[in-house]
Amino acid sequence: MSQNKYDLVVIGSGPGGYVASIVAAQKGMKVASIEKRESLGGTCLNVGCIPSKAMLHASEQYENSVKVNGNEDWGIKCKEVTLDLDKLIKKKSGIVEELTKGIDYLFNKNKVKKYLGAAKIISSNEVEINNNGKIEKIHAEKIIIATGSTPTILPNIDIDETHIVTSTGALDLKKVPKKLIVIGAGVIGLEMGTVWRRLGSEVEVIEFLPRILPGMDNEVADKFMKILQKQGLKFKLSHSLESVKKVDGKVMLSIKDTNTNSLKQIDADVVLIAVGRKPNTSGLGLAELGLATDKHGFIEINNKFETSIKNIYAIGDVIKGPMLAHKAEEDGVAAVEIINGEAGHVDYNLVPGIIYTAPEVAVIGKTEEELKNDGISYNKGVFPLTANSRAKAIGHTDGMVKILADKSTDKILGAHMIGHEAGTVIHELSIAMGFGASSEDVARICHGHPTVNEAIKEAALATYSKAIHS
Ligand code: NAI
Repeated sequence: MSQNKYDLVVIGSGPGGYVASIVAAQKGMKVASIEKRESLGGTCLNVGCIPSKAMLHASEQYENSVKVNGNEDWGIKCKEVTLDLDKLIKKKSGIVEELTKGIDYLFNKNKVKKYLGAAKIISSNEVEINNNGKIEKIHAEKIIIATGSTPTILPNIDIDETHIVTSTGALDLKKVPKKLIVIGAGVIGLEMGTVWRRLGSEVEVIEFLPRILPGMDNEVADKFMKILQKQGLKFKLSHSLESVKKVDGKVMLSIKDTNTNSLKQIDADVVLIAVGRKPNTSGLGLAELGLATDKHGFIEINNKFETSIKNIYAIGDVIKGPMLAHKAEEDGVAAVEIINGEAGHVDYNLVPGIIYTAPEVAVIGKTEEELKNDGISYNKGVFPLTANSRAKAIGHTDGMVKILADKSTDKILGAHMIGHEAGTVIHELSIAMGFGASSEDVARICHGHPTVNEAIKEAALATYSKAIHS
């Protein structure tokens, strides 16, 4: 095969694209990856999952050190805890740099050829790369589009990433804002709102709907909101943002109460717009190719990740489904397996959703509302963390486990948890659900003591029978 001819060209090197590239190379394909950022890893590694988790970690450490009640109860006194924000941000950026370079290492190890530049698809087998005006064309037997998503910007709002910021700017603020307003009580709003609250900001979240976290189980969302309020986050539900303008280094916001239609003016030092993300397909030449997208801009695919144009596949945030790194990775593996003549498949019902606050929220499968809407009869088992001995011993009693199982078969259909390291703990239920387990199956597994996982065993017991410790 000549130098610029590839079995597979993957556009975008986020978790979907870089995983697809590596897996395809491992299967013996000659692979090229095209990336328009300077570094590999996409939103997740550069300006998403990884830096936000680093900042959630650092801000939690800081809050735990300064929080008098948290430590003095244990006889621990911390004096003169100070915050060097510049150093915190540098540390976070260093972690990002190490991890993105790690993908370069994996590409080299697996012989994936990296091209930096913006890709445009010319035909089913041809991709053009524009690297600052230097144009190069490469041949592709198959193409995977894995270009991810970008923040949704509200009309008439000018993002400057210093005072009016998206999640990208919220990871790089130069000083702790005295007042931060977050627009949107979704995952980004609640995670980044938590970071800056812990670092000292007064944080208010403005949400269009009468609830936080639309799509999540109502009971879980309600309980989680109360926990966040207890931590100091303020909420204005049923309010929408109408306009923002910068005045004398501050931001003035006009918000509308959606029940009364009345307008209010509020000011802040920084406003974070976190109202969702949209698929990133601009500049790819899709319209010229006639490649089908839906009215929201998502690329349409069949059940083999094939787009409307032969040889072109799409995965991750540019297609429908949860906009999550781990879902994109699964898509990438499945698409490559299909290209390789194997049976690739992703069960979107088993993609966990995790919010990395403290406590964490972790959900998988159906919500109670979805089961009701689908007319499925279910049993429900709930176990509070106040009754879990490990949670008590470590002072993390905020939270609960909720399991939903089919009334007639006892098969687990949904699992929802708020609690210490819930994002890690939930995976025992992911595996159980992956193997089609019943709540009784989970309850009869011996769980180590004392662990937070025992709350899962107890919730499983409560689903088909009775919990022992509550
Ligand atoms: P989101 O879709 O989770 O939440 C956006 C919120 O903004 C919704 O509650 C919506 O009702 C509200 N909203 C929309 N327009 C509004 C307006 N004009 N005024 C007030 N509220 C308004 O979107 P988010 O938080 O921006 O996250 C984007 C994507 O990134 C999501 O798919 C999320 O799952 C993903 N993500 C996942 C993370 C994780 O897994 N831990 C972390 C960060 C992001």
